[in-house]
Order: sequence, then C-alpha cells, then structure tokens
Amino acid sequence: MKHLISISDLTKNDVTQIFKTTDKLKNKKMPLLKDKILAMVFEKPSTRTRVSFEVAMEHLGGHAINLSHGETQLVRDESIADTAKVLSRYVDAIMARVFEHKTLMELAKYASVPVINGLSHKEHPCQALADAYTILKRKGLKGKIVFLGDGTNNTFNSLVKVCGMFGMDIIVSCPAGYKPKIKGKYKVVESPKEAVKDADVLYTDTFVSMGEEKEIKKRIADLKGYQLNSSLVKTANNPIVMHPLPAHRSVEITSDVMDGKNSVVFEQAENRLHVQKAILYLLLK
Ligand code: CP
Ligand code: NVA
Repeated sequence: MKHLISISDLTKNDVTQIFKTTDKLKNKKMPLLKDKILAMVFEKPSTRTRVSFEVAMEHLGGHAINLSHGETQLVRDESIADTAKVLSRYVDAIMARVFEHKTLMELAKYASVPVINGLSHKEHPCQALADAYTILKRKGLKGKIVFLGDGTNNTFNSLVKVCGMFGMDIIVSCPAGYKPKIKGKYKVVESPKEAVKDADVLYTDTFVSMGEEKEIKKRIADLKGYQLNSSLVKTANNPIVMHPLPAHRSVEITSDVMDGKNSVVFEQAENRLHVQKAILYLLLK
C-alpha cells in the first residue's frame, strides 16, 4: 500500500497484515521509524486521531508535527498541490483530516510521500481498521453487526468495507433519507428492534457529523428513534457495543449503555493507537 485514503486501497491480505503487525507492536516502544516525521493536517477538530497518531510516532522513535486548522497557508488559499509538494520535501508522511474527500485525492496526487486519511466526509478508514481489530479480538470477525443511525456517514462507509471483506453479516438500521449512499454487502432494516435481533455487534455514531452542524435540529429529530439504548442491547445476542467517539450521551447512545458491561468504546479508542502504529510502520518502513 502506498497511501491509505480508503479501505478500498486495501486487500484482505493487507488488513490481515495490519492486524498481525498491530499484535507485534502493541504496547511496545521500538525505534522502527527512528527520525521519521509525520505531518498532521487538520481542517476539523480531533482528540483521538491527533493524539494517537502523535503517540504512535513517538513510540516508534519518530516525531509528528501538528498543523491545526488556521496554522498553515492553506487558509490563505495556498493550493493543496503546492502544500503537498512542499510538505513532501520536509516529512516522511502526511496524515490529513479534511472536509472534502477530493482534498485527500489531490494531496495524494501531488505528494511524493504516503498520505493517510484521518477522516473525510466520505471515509474514516483508520477508525474502521481499529473497529475491526476490536471486533476481531472480542468476538472474531464473523457474525452480525448492526449499525444504527446515520447510514450515510464516513464511519459506516469505511466499516462496511472492512467488515464486508471478512464476510460479516452487516445490517444498517436507519430511516428513509439516511440510507447508505455507497454500494456494499449490507441490508437496510428500518425498524431498530427488528434489526438488532441476534446481533453480535451494535454500532452507532453521532447523528450530526462534523460539517453538518446546520442540520442539527432536523437530524436529531429524524434519527431519535435510532438511539442505542438498553432495550436494544437486551434484544441482541449479548452484543459488544461500539462507538467511534466523541459520543453525545442521551442523543445517539444512552449513558447506561455506553458505560455498561457490553460497551467496548474505550478499548476501541485505545485500539486506534495500536492499529495506527502498524499502519505507520507498514507505510513508512
Ligand atoms: N474517532 C475519532 O476520530 O475521534 P477524534 O475526532 O477525536 O479524532
Ligand atoms: N461521523 C463523525 C465521526 C467522528 C469521529 C464525524 O464525521 O464527525
């Protein structure tokens, strides 16, 4: 793999290799990427992605430079192409969190170093890899996963691709108007009660992704029947409960479920660090 822009850039073998490498590097500090430098470009806020990438680089003997929104000449209309060419002369890889997916495509076109998608409006591949790794460790990558809420979002788009590779049975439960826009191996079941029957994994994400703030009232009203609550957990098959975070407690997930015995949300967040070490090592070694 040269870049990681989409899960579609990866084969099942690549994903398996990422997970094997994750097992090897987890909880270890080794100078495998000594003196390598990652630039992290953010058009949107981040807690987990920013910190886990920076810590991953430090654990591997490298370094990360954080370029938050407003800190580069991109806000004064320097082009993506010129930015990519310049950063490539300083650093060994670029991770970027952007609004438009095409910004990442442009970065990858002009960069001579690997480009990693740290979230775009279309995909969140590093999240999906950490999610799949979490499912693998907890239950094995098999059985039934149900995604509740906004089926059009980046998290679902990446998750469906990686879970589909391993043949998981994928259901998305959402109202009309929030059905997935991508093609993939999933079924839509509108009724959440019906959808979660026998599920091994229940997954939800914010109803309002970054950049959709203007639609906040409408989205919360449209999606309120899809909240991940204890009644849905009871209907499923002793599922693990997942959320990429940040969560909006009492909106898409109740606090009792998020803090309950089925929840793996903080382990899932921790796995961002472990899996990213593998991604960085495999792209930069
Ligand atoms: N899940 C995730 O990407 O979190 P951040 O927005 O905090 O990076
Ligand atoms: N779908 C969410 C994911 C946040 C990690 C968003 O794009 O805001």
